[in-house]
Amino acid sequence: MEEKFKQVAQWIINSKRIVVFGGAGLSTESGIPDFRSPGGVWDRYNPEDFYFQKFISSETSREKYWQMATEMYEPMKKAQPNLAHLAIAEMEKLGKLDCVITQNIDGLHLKAGNSEEKVIELHGTAMYVSCLSCQKRYDRDEIQERIKKGVKVPYCDDCGGPLKPATISFGQSMPERETQEAYDRSSLCDLFIVIGSSLVVQPAASMPLVAKRNGARLVIINRDPTPYDDMADLVIHGQAGPTMASILEYLKMGLMPHESF
Ligand code: APR
Repeated sequence: MEEKFKQVAQWIINSKRIVVFGGAGLSTESGIPDFRSPGGVWDRYNPEDFYFQKFISSETSREKYWQMATEMYEPMKKAQPNLAHLAIAEMEKLGKLDCVITQNIDGLHLKAGNSEEKVIELHGTAMYVSCLSCQKRYDRDEIQERIKKGVKVPYCDDCGGPLKPATISFGQSMPERETQEAYDRSSLCDLFIVIGSSLVVQPAASMPLVAKRNGARLVIINRDPTPYDDMADLVIHGQAGPTMASILEYLKMGLMPHESF
């Protein structure tokens, strides 16, 4: 395994444009469950119930959605960046990061110190709420306070429209700017590192393919096998935190003058 860590560190040193692509597995060590592992969100809830079309079509669906969203928000609110988030923030400081493309809605890359312009939130964020009619923005905690006081489905103070966390639900259109930027940067990078994603949800899961097809090296760091393992240049089936911490150590060693590993 050490040889694999060294190899990834060496590829980072030799690369000019490095994209990190993250999924829910990057945040499990921060206490936020992922979606498809045993005990994950979709083990406890049926994803069919949370399609965007259902949310906009009925009060009952909105109530169900807010119950699930409130349960998911609690661990996110308390969560702190783990070793993987911190290593990615360090890569930026070392000038070794083009961007982080994340499917996560927990805001932990920003909390870890990555700059906003380097973080592409493909599936939006749970850290604020917006009105689906007038796009008025609300702080998430303010709306959670209303839920705590018994509101089952919050509506907009200005236009009365339905409020929803600023995340992208199944069936909801992807954010145009972020999606285009993610495609562009994936196609231009020379090293693409996937961390903690099952790589089954589109269009996000097509980004590693775009990178590979445009000549980038592909590294996958994930606890379980993914459908793309065979086409990757290197696969590490391990925990994101300790793996990224080890890679960072070799990276720093390798970047030191006259040092090698
Ligand atoms: N270290 C490394 N890998 C991990 C860890 C960890 N600590 N914890 C979990 N994993 C791996 C699991 O093995 C799993 O393959 O992370 C992967 C997480 O996969 P999913 O739960 O499917 O999450 P993700 O790929 O982000 O899902 C994509 O699906 O439900 C939607 O919108 C949601 O953004 C999400 C999208």
